[in-house]
Amino acid sequence: MDQSPTSPNADQITYWNARAGNTWASMQKRLDAQIGAIGLRALDVLAPRAGECVIDIGCGCGTTSFEIARRVGPSGHVTAIDISQPMLEVARRDAEQNHVGNVSFLEADAQTYSFEPASYDALFSRFGVMFFADPVTAFKNLRAALKPQSGRLAFVCWRPLKENPWMAVPLKAAMQHLPPQEPADPLAPGPYAFADAERVKRILGQAGFGEIAATAHDQQVEMGRLDQAVEHCTRFGPLGRLLLEHPDAVAPVMQTLHKTLAEHISDGVVRMDSAVWIVTARRA
Ligand SMILES: C[S@@+](CC[C@H](N)C(=O)[O-])C[C@H]1O[C@@H](n2cnc3c(N)ncnc32)[C@H](O)[C@@H]1O
Repeated sequence: MDQSPTSPNADQITYWNARAGNTWASMQKRLDAQIGAIGLRALDVLAPRAGECVIDIGCGCGTTSFEIARRVGPSGHVTAIDISQPMLEVARRDAEQNHVGNVSFLEADAQTYSFEPASYDALFSRFGVMFFADPVTAFKNLRAALKPQSGRLAFVCWRPLKENPWMAVPLKAAMQHLPPQEPADPLAPGPYAFADAERVKRILGQAGFGEIAATAHDQQVEMGRLDQAVEHCTRFGPLGRLLLEHPDAVAPVMQTLHKTLAEHISDGVVRMDSAVWIVTARRA
């Protein structure tokens, strides 16, 4: 794949192949425990059937790819695409260890990769579609891979940060140890780029999709024991990104988060609310 600085998603390719990709790769099991139920909800909406061919966009370490592969069965196939070499390494190792024969893991940019045209039944993504530099171009490219008329899509993406206390509360608490930040560009590639459902509908409409719907889904996230939840907040999401630039703040932020997150423990586990869109559409 094009790793050059001039490729359209060069920043994201660098980001997901450096520390972020390695962090995801090393903590995938714990992440799956947190967001697994949300992904399964979106997969139930997609409802892959035996024999279908599905693209898993931004498949990461392959958790959802394996679940789709199970659902489409040996007569179906999953093309799982990602730009992160360290995450794909985990996925490929798991596929080999578990003798999964109906998934192909592809290191490529979903915005530009030349998929076999008009040959897939469905597109799916668990939080892997908010990072495109040019989302309309990306979804035009992905649409072309779908079978005309019947090809469908379902993905899950975050609603705004303020509706996601599991990320907003730790971020707010941590800010006392960090320099004030310019407000982030809400349209820039990143976890909240698809927070505005109307924007997502416009993007998909411009890319040639029809029957577009975004359904709000709220779910409590189990963040693990207090020490696990603190570690998670300092390594992932907007706070994780900020702390990469300000490593001196990690220790005081962790101290603060121990106090803040302790207020959200029930039955020994930190639990906080999250909010997503489950987006569906069809190749018009
Ligand atoms: C938040 S992670 C989600 C990973 C996985 N879907 C999961 O739920 O565990 C986002 C993923 O999207 C991938 N990604 C970002 N931009 C991409 C692009 N242009 N093409 C393919 N994958 C991309 C990243 O490398 C990363 O693995």
